[in-house]
Amino acid sequence: MAARHTWKSYLLWCANEHVSFRIPEVEAILAMYKIPHTWIEKPAENPWMLISMPSEDCAIKLMKRSVTVRSIIELWARSTTKEHLDDQLKILPTEFTFYFKKENTFKVVVDTFNKVTSQEDKIKKIESFSFLPILGTANLKNPSVTYHYYEFFGLDAGRIPENPYDYFFGRWVSNSERSAVEKYSLKTRHFIGNTSMDPKLSMIMANLAQIDDGHVVVDPFVGTGSLLVAAAHFGGYVCGTDIDYLTLHGKMKPSRAHQKKRQPDEDIKGNLKTYNLFSRYLDVFVGDASRPVWRPEFRFDSIITDPPYGIRESTEKVGSKKIAPVPEELASPHFPSKTQYGLGDMYKDLLNFAANNLKVNGRVVFWIPIIRMEYDPDLLPEHPCLETVANSEQILNLHSSRRLITMQKTMEPKEAADSAIIHDLQYTFRHKFFNTGEIKGRAREDVQAEYLTKRSKRGNGVAKLPCNE
Ligand SMILES: C[S@@+](CC[C@H](N)C(=O)[O-])C[C@H]1O[C@@H](n2cnc3c(N)ncnc32)[C@H](O)[C@@H]1O
Repeated sequence: MAARHTWKSYLLWCANEHVSFRIPEVEAILAMYKIPHTWIEKPAENPWMLISMPSEDCAIKLMKRSVTVRSIIELWARSTTKEHLDDQLKILPTEFTFYFKKENTFKVVVDTFNKVTSQEDKIKKIESFSFLPILGTANLKNPSVTYHYYEFFGLDAGRIPENPYDYFFGRWVSNSERSAVEKYSLKTRHFIGNTSMDPKLSMIMANLAQIDDGHVVVDPFVGTGSLLVAAAHFGGYVCGTDIDYLTLHGKMKPSRAHQKKRQPDEDIKGNLKTYNLFSRYLDVFVGDASRPVWRPEFRFDSIITDPPYGIRESTEKVGSKKIAPVPEELASPHFPSKTQYGLGDMYKDLLNFAANNLKVNGRVVFWIPIIRMEYDPDLLPEHPCLETVANSEQILNLHSSRRLITMQKTMEPKEAADSAIIHDLQYTFRHKFFNTGEIKGRAREDVQAEYLTKRSKRGNGVAKLPCNE
C-alpha cells in the first residue's frame, strides 16, 4: 500500500440522476478493484463526494467503470466562501503549483449546480482566479492541464441561494465511463422490446454485480438481453433464460411504431454482434426460472436480473392449475400450460438459485417492486447464505417504486439449500398496487383492462406481452 503522505483528495462530480445509486456504485467499484481509499464526505443527495486515494491511477481506475459519476478532480481547495477558497489557492503546495509551469497549456472549466450561469458570468468567474501564477498559455481545444471550478447551490430548485453553499477548485483527472454508454442507447439499438432496460441502469447493475473480465454471468429473466449487453461490455461471458420463446428470439411484434416486421437477425445475439461483443456471448434459451436447469455443481460469478412484477404482464411459470390427471412418474415431461408465478415465490426461487449457483463472494443484483408506504428494509427477501450489500430506490410514482437490491454470497448452503425467507410484502405487492393510493378509479381500470386484454389475447401460449414499465 502506498505511503499515507502521498494520498490526495479527489472530488467526484456526479451526474444529476440515479441519485441513490451513486454511493453503492462507487463503493462496489472500489471494493472490486480493492482500491485503497478513505471517504472524506459522501453526502447521500449532493452531486459530489470527496474521497482520499493514494494515486491518480486509482482515480482513473474508478472512472473507467463509473456511470453515476461524471468526472474526477484532484481537489486543491474547497470552502463555503469564495474568499476562503482563494486564500487556500494562494498558498498551494509545490506538488500543485508544479502544473503552473510555462510548458503546460491550460483551460479553466466553470460548472454550477442548481443555477444557470451565462457565458459572461463564467468568464468573470474565470478571471477571478487571475491571481494564480499560471505561466502557460490558454488552449481551449487541447490543453495539457484543465482546472475545474465548481459552485454548488444546493438541491432546492425553488430556493436557489444568492451565493453557493460550496466552492471547489482542482485539476481535472478523468471523465467517467458515462459517455461510453451513449453507444448502447435504446434509440439506436438493433433489437429492443417494451421492457428493455435503460443502458445506464444496466451498467450500474453490472457495476454493483462487480462483473469483470472473464466472469460468467446469467440473467434468468433475460427478455431482450439488455443486462447481458452491459455485462459483456465489462468483459463478462453472458447467458440467459426466458420463459417466452417469442421475446427471447425476437419474434414478438416490433416495439418501434414505424416498424412492421422484425429483421431475421433482430435478437440478443444480433445486438451483441453489432456492439462487437459477440465473443462474450455464451447462449440464451427458453427456460423457467422456477426450475433452474443448471448443473448443481456449476457456479456463476454474477446474476443480474429484472424479474416481471406482474403489473402489465402476468408472472408465470411452467405448470398447471389442474390436479395432475396422471401420476407424476408417468406424466409426459412436456408441460403445455402455465400457471401463476407469485412474486413471493419468484424471489424465493431467485435467492435459492443464487445461494446454490453463485460462487462465494459472487453477487446477485435484482429489482423488486415496493409500495412505498409499506417499505421496511427488514422485510426484503433474505437468505442465510446471502448478505444485502446495497439497496437503492428508483421512484416510479407517488405510491410505488422499485428497489435495486445487491446481495453477496457469504457461504455455501449446508443442508437446506432452499432457505430463502420471503415476507408478505412480496406476496401482496400486485394486489396492493391495484388497490393503493393514486392508482384508483379510471387509472386502475385502465391498467387492469390492459392487463386482462393482453392476458386473454395470449391465451395459454408462449407469446408474452411487455411487463414492468
Ligand atoms: C422485465 S422483463 C426483463 C427485461 C429484460 N431485462 C430486458 O432488458 O429486456 C421480465 C422477463 O421475464 C420473463 N419471465 C416471466 N416469467 C418467467 C419465468 N417463470 N422464467 C423465466 N422468465 C420469465 C418475461 O418473459 C420477461 O421477458
